[in-house]
Amino acid sequence: MLYVVVDGFFGDTGKGKVISYLSVADDVDIVARGGVGPNAGHTVVYENRTYKLRQVPSGFVNPRSRLLIGPGVLVNPEVFLKELELTNTKGRVFMDHQTGIIEQKHIEEDRGSSHLKNKIGTTGSGSGPAMRDRVMRILKLAKDYEFLKEYLTDVPYEVNSALDENKRVILEGTQGTFLSLYHGTYPYVTSKDVTASAICSDVGVGPKRVDEIVLVFKSYVTRVGGGPLENEYSIEEAKKLGLLEIATVTGRIRRAAPFNFNYAKRAVMLNSPTQIAITKIDVLFKEDFGKREWSKLSKEARNFITNIEDNLNVPVTLISTGPDVKHTIDRRKELGFV
Ligand code: IMP
Ligand code: MG
Repeated sequence: MLYVVVDGFFGDTGKGKVISYLSVADDVDIVARGGVGPNAGHTVVYENRTYKLRQVPSGFVNPRSRLLIGPGVLVNPEVFLKELELTNTKGRVFMDHQTGIIEQKHIEEDRGSSHLKNKIGTTGSGSGPAMRDRVMRILKLAKDYEFLKEYLTDVPYEVNSALDENKRVILEGTQGTFLSLYHGTYPYVTSKDVTASAICSDVGVGPKRVDEIVLVFKSYVTRVGGGPLENEYSIEEAKKLGLLEIATVTGRIRRAAPFNFNYAKRAVMLNSPTQIAITKIDVLFKEDFGKREWSKLSKEARNFITNIEDNLNVPVTLISTGPDVKHTIDRRKELGFV
């Protein structure tokens, strides 16, 4: 069974939370990360601890899950090794031989370039310059570094073999649909496509192998860095509504806007989801914090969700009601999934 989980807005919709929930609830065998690289920040809250991850897949909370990083992804070895320690996952996290490696010079270029840093507002993680070097075919790959040897594997082979054996696999997307190099708000985008098709290609899985695509939307829209954002709130408005967030990787304030059906409809078109996950519903409807059953949700929250289903024609199967992995309403069974 192959699930692909991707973000329908500008990143930071809570994919990390959704993926960690699924890895435990479905006792997933492999969680494989696609996307750009350490520019992504996934927050996972599990058993009273908060983890901010940029490289290790969010499925680490299930101690049985094998954690892989695809050949299309970039790794900063320093960040990678630190997160192995933080999550105590050494021995079950591996990257592909052909995963690209970010060097200090890429980070310096990202942070020193006024185009990247000031105009685009990048994360300064070296991702863009490293992707450029990959296109130029001069970027070093994981297999070029002796000290990474013990972390290398053939990720496409592992994932496809696991699927042949009917094991459960999640492909973890990063960033968000409108940060895609091709489909986003160019030039205010990241350095790769990040829609569902791209995440499959990052890991090395053909489109026919995919069973479920979960598109994750937050109950409101946020964006960090430059670029357009429809119906953007002022910082004061966002603060008053309780929507102010601080970015995981860069510590910047995230710009905020209400839930947006123009974006959501286009994200559905670009990603062909079979299911939708809605996160942070408790931010809009405070009384719904931590709820774990659909029938217990407030009428307002249920109307909000039903309106999304009616407009997008895709069932909302997962609803996040708080930061912890267990703050989740899982409607898959009642809606005929699983
Ligand atoms: P870069 O990916 O660091 O080159 O940054 C390009 C743009 O994408 C900037 O607006 C970043 O803020 C944004 N971005 C990149 N990765 C993420 C992410 O994981 N979440 C949110 N924004 C991101
Ligand atoms: Mg993030």
